[in-house]
Amino acid sequence: MTILAIETSCDDTCIAILKIENCKLKILSNVVSSQVKLHAKYGGIYPSLAKREHQKNLPIVLKKAIREAKKSKIDLIAVTVGPGLEPCLWTGVNFAKDLAKNLKLPIIPINHIEAHILVNFLPFLKFRGREIWKKFVQLLPAICLVVSGGHTQLILMPATPKSQVHFRDHIKYKILGETRDDAAGECLDKVARILGLGYPGGPIISKLAEPFSRREVSPIRSINLPRPMMHQKNYDFSFSGLKTAVLYNFKSKPGKIRKSTEYIQAICTEVQQAVIDVLISKTLRAAAEYKVKAIILGGGVTANEELRKQFKSKIQSLKSEIQFLAPPKNLSTDNAVMVAAAAYFRHLQEEKKAWGNIEVNANLRLK
Ligand code: KG4
Ligand code: ZN
Repeated sequence: MTILAIETSCDDTCIAILKIENCKLKILSNVVSSQVKLHAKYGGIYPSLAKREHQKNLPIVLKKAIREAKKSKIDLIAVTVGPGLEPCLWTGVNFAKDLAKNLKLPIIPINHIEAHILVNFLPFLKFRGREIWKKFVQLLPAICLVVSGGHTQLILMPATPKSQVHFRDHIKYKILGETRDDAAGECLDKVARILGLGYPGGPIISKLAEPFSRREVSPIRSINLPRPMMHQKNYDFSFSGLKTAVLYNFKSKPGKIRKSTEYIQAICTEVQQAVIDVLISKTLRAAAEYKVKAIILGGGVTANEELRKQFKSKIQSLKSEIQFLAPPKNLSTDNAVMVAAAAYFRHLQEEKKAWGNIEVNANLRLK
């Protein structure tokens, strides 16, 4: 089975080709064409601009992906149908439909959030169907933390009741909580804009915070940013107040301090730590309440080294058997391998669709 997957929900044009055959798994190609340079000028993403870039990039990215895959025969097309920016999603979906029509192939529509979760199970896909489900079920119940530029969600994957034996019953989701305003990645992107650091903010802030997070002290101890909703007994998040707190702190400083490396590094360390504290605290509370067997990360912000390090160390200190799953960093940020991985699970559940029936849903929710 060879899957060609397309992802255009935000500002990356991605196509991947994944081959699963005879208990072997091979990523034949994984092309990501980033629009970062274009959007950096504006400090954020303009959907109409992103759509135009996807339209321009898709044929080029496809050619590259097929060349890298050495023209392997494709069996299935997968495409992200939501959530995301509607014009961008339609560009990918229309491209996938044309391709499926020309090659006479079925399409599997994929939820972007689910793809961020299921890419964690990529190594399982080399096994045969029943083996995959056996390994999968052993990790349930699980808590998934999906944190990106557009989403911050805490999701429960409940255990499958023993009586349910069909594959279809294994993948279920319950959204326990989500952000009430800005996503965590969006907050980091906006903070970087306030500080004049460029776009996307997450990796830049993480780099500037790096020397201090290693020592676990901030160079200017007087910066204390809030940890919004951290102690509230729900699983929702709010990051817009954190961004505003950065803005007030920045405005309160004289120009010379604002421009100093010491101040920038200090505020980056503190804002990164504030985001990490909230994410870890809520995830661990949910993990305890639902007695989970695994904590699963996904989305661009979870590429953050410090977040992963602190998660691992907190889980270890619990002395529990909870497994910690996080994808390789290049599969945490947007890519199409994750879409192919999710499509393979859906294929095992026999969820192919004729190309004509695929619709975009910018607000698609996990079920
Ligand atoms: O999942 P993703 O690639 O795209 C969306 O679905 O939104 O996530 C992009 C977000 C951006 O906000 C970016 O600043 C953030 O992920 N990000 C990071 C890191 N790498 C990307 N945030 C913190 N640390 C990183 N290393
Ligand atoms: Zn994403």
